[in-house]
Amino acid sequence: MKVATICKNRKTLVVTSPLIKKLYFSLIETVLPFEIDWLLIEGGEQAKSLDSLVNIWEYMARNGFDRSSIVIVIEGGSVGDMVGFAASTYMRGIDWINIPTTLLAQVDSSIGGKTSINIPAGKNLVGSFHLPLITICDFDFLSSLDIVELKQGLVEIVKIAWVYNLQLFDYLKCNIEKIDDVKDPIVLENLAGDAIRSKVSIISKDFKDVSGLRAILNFGHTLAHALEASTDYSIRHGDAVLVGMLFDLGLSVRYDKLTTTCAKELVNIIEKIGLPELKGVDIETITSLMAKDKKNTGNLISFITTSEKGKAGVKLLPINEVERLVREFFLDPLKFALINY
Ligand SMILES: NC(=O)c1ccc[n+]([C@@H]2O[C@H](COP(=O)([O-])OP(=O)(O)OC[C@H]3O[C@@H](n4cnc5c(N)ncnc54)[C@H](O)[C@@H]3O)[C@@H](O)[C@H]2O)c1
Repeated sequence: MKVATICKNRKTLVVTSPLIKKLYFSLIETVLPFEIDWLLIEGGEQAKSLDSLVNIWEYMARNGFDRSSIVIVIEGGSVGDMVGFAASTYMRGIDWINIPTTLLAQVDSSIGGKTSINIPAGKNLVGSFHLPLITICDFDFLSSLDIVELKQGLVEIVKIAWVYNLQLFDYLKCNIEKIDDVKDPIVLENLAGDAIRSKVSIISKDFKDVSGLRAILNFGHTLAHALEASTDYSIRHGDAVLVGMLFDLGLSVRYDKLTTTCAKELVNIIEKIGLPELKGVDIETITSLMAKDKKNTGNLISFITTSEKGKAGVKLLPINEVERLVREFFLDPLKFALINY
């Protein structure tokens, strides 16, 4: 169904950044050829805040938005997560449409209806499940992303391939030397299309994250979220997941009988994408943030391990053991991922 048909006779708010409005005004006008209100906020992780949320609620309340109104977000995963949460809470929930503009948002965050903001105690700690009416992935938006941004999305593609889609993983393994070709529209469409289909397949079987299937998408994410929050989000989400995947690989080798030969296949890809600089990491802060992760059970911290490629499950570990492992990990992350003590 066309966006114009969905929005007919409904007050419509478009939330985007000044950057996206400037770069893609004519593209947006062709997708949304009807009267809209614009609300501009800066893109990036800082958008996932209570202040941004209040800003949207207030704007809608002051400008006559009611329960039949609709919100359209056109930005990356950060603004997308926050606007989805604003839509899920304004007047107890109104409709929204997601038009993701980064690779990461197109292959991951825009699929599955998880919305959230960050609070000082941790990342994504407040949120809801609220599916958009539709998600529109237009690869034309990606033309302004540099290779650093594209790699953020590539990380989530690698993650879903490792835990769920072996064919996609083999493709990545064989083509990793040409990684900068991710800019090539055909390569991009193949990779992104495959990753999107995998995520949709998982979400359709476990939307509310209860059976354990959707949980496998958290591979690498427990350490990643703590790392992001501990550095005040100066490490990007994709980069943090790259580091977190090495940690969960090391746990897989130690606790889940993953062979180091198999682990090496993923390590090679991670090395090729390129780890971020990890200076001044505060182990105690990271461990205490991990202890507050919403996926935990009681005093046990939740991780995803893989016994082999494509076979992932939850591993719960006590906090004192996690602290010891995190210390060991940051001495030499690559070694940690491959050595079974
Ligand atoms: N809801 C979920 O299931 C889910 C899944 C994975 C990740 N996430 C979340 O997604 C967020 C990361 O999203 P992201 O990687 O899209 O980054 P982002 O949204 O933080 O955007 C990064 C930067 O790119 C800019 N940008 C956006 N589109 C652009 C374009 N087309 N051209 C040039 N610049 C552009 C933004 O303005 C911003 O400055 C994290 O908060 C993460 O927690 C959510």
